[in-house]
Amino acid sequence: MATDETTSKEQTGSISSVLSEKRKFPPSAEFSKNAHITSMEEYEKLYAAAAADPDKYWGDLAEKFHWFKKWDSVLDWAPPYAKWFSGGKTNICYNAVDVHAKSWRKNKAAIIWEGEEGPQRVLTYGELHRQVSKFANVLKIAGIRPGDRVAIYMGMVPELIIAVLACARVGAVHNVIFAGFSAHAISERVNDSRAKMVICADGTRRRGGSINLKNIVDEAIVNTPSVRSVIVLKVTGEKVHMHDGMDHWWHDLMGLAMDECEPAEVDAEHPLFVLYTSGSTGKPKGILHTTAGYMVHAANSFKYVFDIKDEDIYFCTADVGWITGHSYMAYGPLLNGATILMYEGAPNYPQWDRFWDIINRHKVTILYTAPTAIRAFIRAGNEWVTKHNLDSLRLLGTVGEPINPEAWMWYHRIVGQERCPIVDTWWQTETGGIMVSPLPGATPTKPGTATRPLPGIMVDVVRKNGDPCEANEGGYLVIKKPWPSMLRTIYGDNARYEKTYWSEFKDMYFTGDGARKDEDGYIWIMGRVDDVVNVSGHRLGTSEVESALVSYEAVAEAAVVSRPDDIKGNALVAFVTLKDEYVGDMNLREALRNHVAKEIGPIAKPDEIRWAKGLPKTRSGKIMRRLLRELATSNEVKGDVTTLEDFGVLENLRDQEDD
Ligand code: WT7
Repeated sequence: MATDETTSKEQTGSISSVLSEKRKFPPSAEFSKNAHITSMEEYEKLYAAAAADPDKYWGDLAEKFHWFKKWDSVLDWAPPYAKWFSGGKTNICYNAVDVHAKSWRKNKAAIIWEGEEGPQRVLTYGELHRQVSKFANVLKIAGIRPGDRVAIYMGMVPELIIAVLACARVGAVHNVIFAGFSAHAISERVNDSRAKMVICADGTRRRGGSINLKNIVDEAIVNTPSVRSVIVLKVTGEKVHMHDGMDHWWHDLMGLAMDECEPAEVDAEHPLFVLYTSGSTGKPKGILHTTAGYMVHAANSFKYVFDIKDEDIYFCTADVGWITGHSYMAYGPLLNGATILMYEGAPNYPQWDRFWDIINRHKVTILYTAPTAIRAFIRAGNEWVTKHNLDSLRLLGTVGEPINPEAWMWYHRIVGQERCPIVDTWWQTETGGIMVSPLPGATPTKPGTATRPLPGIMVDVVRKNGDPCEANEGGYLVIKKPWPSMLRTIYGDNARYEKTYWSEFKDMYFTGDGARKDEDGYIWIMGRVDDVVNVSGHRLGTSEVESALVSYEAVAEAAVVSRPDDIKGNALVAFVTLKDEYVGDMNLREALRNHVAKEIGPIAKPDEIRWAKGLPKTRSGKIMRRLLRELATSNEVKGDVTTLEDFGVLENLRDQEDD
């Protein structure tokens, strides 16, 4: 386990800062009265019942869906491999779309889309059904069979959700790649999943400009032998090269396809998607989720955490390229027949009030966003928010990283006008759905904690030896029982799956997070305990950034650590040793930053690069990241340096003026 980290400064720092937080906010009587879960007593009862008989709890929830054939057993558990609803046959697209298109919701808005430049589109459940069925036929005509992997690389347009749902409809496995990733990152993901097809857009709009996505795909697929065809959606009208035989326009293919397509009747454990996420070592991990278990928990957690009602307009600001977008932009809301507000672009385009303007114009009732965005809004100034009427809002949510109590209070006062409960939702790409969160009509919230686990979810905080911690004692966050939306493996790498998640503690899933549980049983996340950093709510492995730096000609060695950042949560600081013949200067700094953007994507660019004649290492040659983190944060090293091999190296690593 990685662990010089548990004693690191930022962690002890976060423990002491949250310890002082004593404020408590119960939901209003008005909110509770109308909520799905109306009191803590009701929650406790549900939690106890689910703990006593998990098979019954999850089985009852699964009954609410359409099954072509019912399951034989709720859970087969051969640790660490789970099979949920074995023997059952279903289709998640059928449950998310057809069920509603056949009901009174046929003419209800499924997706209200707003483009960055202001255009609007509304897709009803009926229209979504037609488009998804058509595109599913396109996939079939293009030779996509159940189990084939399909990579999707496009911006936030409804066709992204249509493509995802169409894959699920025909039993293909979608692999959405966030449109901010580079050609190199695409090739890596496409090759690892051996995707047969890439679906992309010509371009995507961003802050008034546009990015040519097709060119990036062209560059990526030179190195991806598995790809047979590319389907291109026209969004921005960029100039693109269409390669004969390989590339096809979305609209041409849709023009030929029928609008009825029987959904594939897939096994409960049929793979649904692979989504890549960073780990502490090596290449990104392809997190594999399967059909029925994911469906049950994504839908049910959405219903209770967001207290969804048919009248709601739900605005999730996450990109579908991340797990939040999969579970709570697409599947969770659609499985509930909810109305989604999907916005194409940047929060500060054309100005810092875009979200608030959207909320006012569309009368959004539920907003789900990230602490990093909230901190950016605080900095931009309250007047951007207060000039809009936000009376339609009734519930707020956050996800992605710990929310600092000041940001929570601002969200509560300025956005929620002290009226809206806040659900701080803890979960991971691997968990598939929300694990720890308030239930808004029941749980009294405290700024900075995701509060209690959802019914059926057995999380705990334990010591290194696996024993439970006492109240308020910092430890490791684990999950003690399988849950339906858990990852099934790392795509193509069972050994890594077993090692990463199941080897630290006996019979428990290790989350990689440090946490403490307070006297009310509320979980306070203290951040990662491994070499994974959360930058603006996005997970980055520092080793990936190091590999990218070292792949640049001038670089001999690099170590990347994080330091706290007001807006991004964490900023990346790279300590770089150059090969002898190179000299570190401003141009090289810029070149390195651009190189990382090219290798991984702009989100991974180091915020600061310091030149290092040598890196602090132990006698056995292990880089002492703890010291680098202290240097990056406070410019001083106060911690234990007794194992340091060469004391001289530290002197050179303090803040550096631009050369
Ligand atoms: C890591 C998972 C889940 C969707 C977005 C991120 C951190 C996530 C919270 C929260 C404190 C949080 C954890 C977790 N995290 N939500 N509410 N409070 N920390 O998904 O990229 O898989 O990252 O994000 O460290 O392990 P991800």
